Amino acid sequence: MIQTYVENILKELKDKKPEVLMILGSGLGSLANQIEDKTVIPYEKIGFPKSSVSGHAGCLVVGRMGKHEVVCMQGRFHLYEGHNPELIKNVMCAFKTIGVKTLIVTNAAGSLNADMPAGSLMLINDHINFSGKNPLLGANDEKYGPRFVDLSAVYAPDLQDKLKNIALQKGIKLFEGVYLMVLGPNFETAAEIRAFKILGADAVGMSTVPEVMSAVYTGMKVLGVSVITNLGTGLKTSVQSHAETLEQAQKATQKLSDLLKAYMEE
Ligand code: HPA
Repeated sequence: MIQTYVENILKELKDKKPEVLMILGSGLGSLANQIEDKTVIPYEKIGFPKSSVSGHAGCLVVGRMGKHEVVCMQGRFHLYEGHNPELIKNVMCAFKTIGVKTLIVTNAAGSLNADMPAGSLMLINDHINFSGKNPLLGANDEKYGPRFVDLSAVYAPDLQDKLKNIALQKGIKLFEGVYLMVLGPNFETAAEIRAFKILGADAVGMSTVPEVMSAVYTGMKVLGVSVITNLGTGLKTSVQSHAETLEQAQKATQKLSDLLKAYMEE
């Protein structure tokens, strides 16, 4: 499968050579509008499954952002859609094979801290895999990565520093914290949110960890940012909804867009 993805991507890329992969979370797909000299490749042409979640488009957008050639996944594969975790490993192995060196991953997440409200941006400095799933399960091909992956510095410290400096320069408030992945597709109970806080998490969401683990496995460097779309269950009086996630993500997109644009200028 990896080889098929590689051949199909290379065929569609023509002479483009992206070194940065961006994955855009729920409601954040419009960030791809920042990309210049665009080629849009529907997932079907690569053999990727179609995205089944509203707010996720299902295509690759390839082009230039600032000083970098980028390929952007507009729409990601969530495990709660029923995808095999290995799909995500295969996708990341394919991107590494075509020359991608860095993953910039974004997501929509719930906050576990009332002081980090909806609309905030949170730099992910570590994660907790609470999904019960692992994309690296199964036989290992050493060609792509090691059997036992070191996760001691998953989110590259130098990339984190760079983003923090840019946020400071631009006057954009950037929170920082630990992202906990649940499998979903349900929102959490209030008791779960209290438990996750005790575990050391700052934000909760249903994605990112499989992509990040797979990227680190292949040797990519990773930068992650969560867009806080809501307070976790029990931290607010209203109910949780995907509509709220999309609405708040859209509102925060401009801020994230400005931040990542400036990041790509360096
Ligand atoms: N929980 C899980 N995933 C989410 C949330 C949440 O509160 N908000 C956005 N994605």
